[in-house]
Amino acid sequence: MKFRSLTGVVLAMGAALISAVPAAADSLPGDADNDGKVNVADIAMIASHIKGIRSLDKDNYAAADVNEDGNIDVTDISMIAAHIKGIKAIGSSDEPVINEPKGPEIVTKDGVTYVDGILIANKSYALPENYGNGNSYTSDNSFGLTPETYAAFCEMQSGAYRDGYSLWVCSGYRSYWYQSDLYWGYVNRDGQSEADTYSARPGHSEHQTGLALDINYADSWFDNTAEARWIAENCADYGFILRYPKGKEDKTGYMYESWHVRYVGKELARKVTDSGLCLEEYLGIDSYYH
Ligand code: DAL
Ligand code: ZN
Repeated sequence: MKFRSLTGVVLAMGAALISAVPAAADSLPGDADNDGKVNVADIAMIASHIKGIRSLDKDNYAAADVNEDGNIDVTDISMIAAHIKGIKAIGSSDEPVINEPKGPEIVTKDGVTYVDGILIANKSYALPENYGNGNSYTSDNSFGLTPETYAAFCEMQSGAYRDGYSLWVCSGYRSYWYQSDLYWGYVNRDGQSEADTYSARPGHSEHQTGLALDINYADSWFDNTAEARWIAENCADYGFILRYPKGKEDKTGYMYESWHVRYVGKELARKVTDSGLCLEEYLGIDSYYH
């Protein structure tokens, strides 16, 4: 049995292809979204292509055609799945090759968790009590959001206005202690297990990051408004993702929130949104109270 890492395979393939077809040689086989990793997001992207939802561009097409037969089909998806599971590495010979599946890179700095470089606050990963304490809700008009997040919101607000919709921030940054008051108020009203489905425990709210905000109304009736539909369809263009999508409650740990968006930048927002995955799935992490 032969053991070979994906990196080795890629280097070998890259070297072999460099002189022949430069564009294709640059793409990592299976890396349809061109983010340097072969993971479920690539499968989702290829599936969208097969279903005719979203076409792959030329470079992505080369990477997606894993078996290089000129077609993008379920065989390519199977090869990526086998690669992720460590059953058979992409690019290996018929001989079974065991490949170490690559998990997300999880780094903790000053008590804050970054997964593949993305700051994460969810049920599994908490923030320190004092995180974001410098963000004042009232010192300027940016709701305690980070400058990038607020600028992106303003751009989105203008885009919505051009389409005839009004968006406003109903909740931006929330301190640990403010979240604590909210959460324990909900626990008193509805009981803890119910409260845990819609409110984060102190230290676990994405609002404490200054990267997340609620738009217009933080209530389920907002789901059926034209504004909520506009946000779902357009927020990725401005660098936001719907953080708690419908049908992903068991992955995010929270009920569907049509009003809560998280700033991740335009590139990642597009990839996550097109993948149809929630952020936990996309990054390969969980969200539950340990
Ligand atoms: N409603 C979200 C989950 C929060 O409390 O942060
Ligand atoms: Zn929220």
